[in-house]
Amino acid sequence: MNHFYQKSFLKELDFNAAELNYLIDFAIHLKKLKQENIPHPYLQGKNIALLFEKSSTRTRSAFTVAAVDLGAHPEFLGKNDIQFGTKESVTDTAKILGGMFDGIEFRGFKQQTVETLAKASGVPVWNGLTDEWHPTQMIADFMTLKEHFGKLTGLTLTYVGDGRNNVANSLLITGAILGVNIHIGAPADLQPNSQVIAAAKKAAAKSGAKILITADPKQAVAGADALYTDVWISMGEQVDYHQRIDQLLPYQINAQLVAATGKTDTVILHCLPAFHDTSTTVGQKFMADYNLTALEITDDVFQSPAALVFQEGANRMPAIKAIMAATLGNLFIPEIFD
Ligand code: CP
Ligand code: NVA
Repeated sequence: MNHFYQKSFLKELDFNAAELNYLIDFAIHLKKLKQENIPHPYLQGKNIALLFEKSSTRTRSAFTVAAVDLGAHPEFLGKNDIQFGTKESVTDTAKILGGMFDGIEFRGFKQQTVETLAKASGVPVWNGLTDEWHPTQMIADFMTLKEHFGKLTGLTLTYVGDGRNNVANSLLITGAILGVNIHIGAPADLQPNSQVIAAAKKAAAKSGAKILITADPKQAVAGADALYTDVWISMGEQVDYHQRIDQLLPYQINAQLVAATGKTDTVILHCLPAFHDTSTTVGQKFMADYNLTALEITDDVFQSPAALVFQEGANRMPAIKAIMAATLGNLFIPEIFD
């Protein structure tokens, strides 16, 4: 029986550095197996439910392809396809799905929903994004950094933008656990909440990571090995977008902010989707009143060789594969997790 067997993957705080590092390294290994056409059917005969309250390109695709590569059958259950949330409670849905499926992915609003699914279903549940956390994204992001830099400990990652969203929370906690210095550049009322900061500080005290949270974008990016941003308004957020754009324009990743790192080898990350040009209808609506051609990241930076965003996006698949195989597969994993 392996260390991760039958565990859920709900938030980063449930795991220690050795465990997260194992999943990152396992993801790198599984990526290589796929590239070399070496079969890895660790989940032969398993059935996986993919439950989505919010839309998705990467997470849905990654879970689907990863499940098939592992020999499992994925079944997409969109919020409008099933009784979930309208005619049937989370607990009853969890019991039914847990009685038929071997594992459940959930993307949606409340963290409480994914926690309840895990408790009531009796099978591993994987968090494909909630309003609070985006943990599968973290395995792909830190995997991408490890592929590029060959290490994680001691790197500095700066996140600029909405410092209160799921991705910012997850980066702060994951970096703190792994010994990656995390800087957050965000206006005061979009900085991480006090519980997240306290948890990050506690983890950082153990790992040696340095945490900096500041409203000054230049101070935030100084010395960064990686710059990271995300959309300024997350899925389901009801906010006045004019106010949000006014607040976050100083935190846009553009050539000036990249130069303010003081380094020439800083890489750029973004979980995607990104508003880096005027090609999307939502982007056009947000940019029109400001005569902008980009929001959180300019197109020149997004298209530059320093941007690892598509490598990062592709890494979602082996990252999710590693998480599913470790928690549901009957494979040997050495006990290195004290
Ligand atoms: N990064 C990410 O989670 O993308 P999707 O919303 O397309 O799944
Ligand atoms: N913060 C974004 C992440 C998308 C992957 C959102 O929740 O919409």
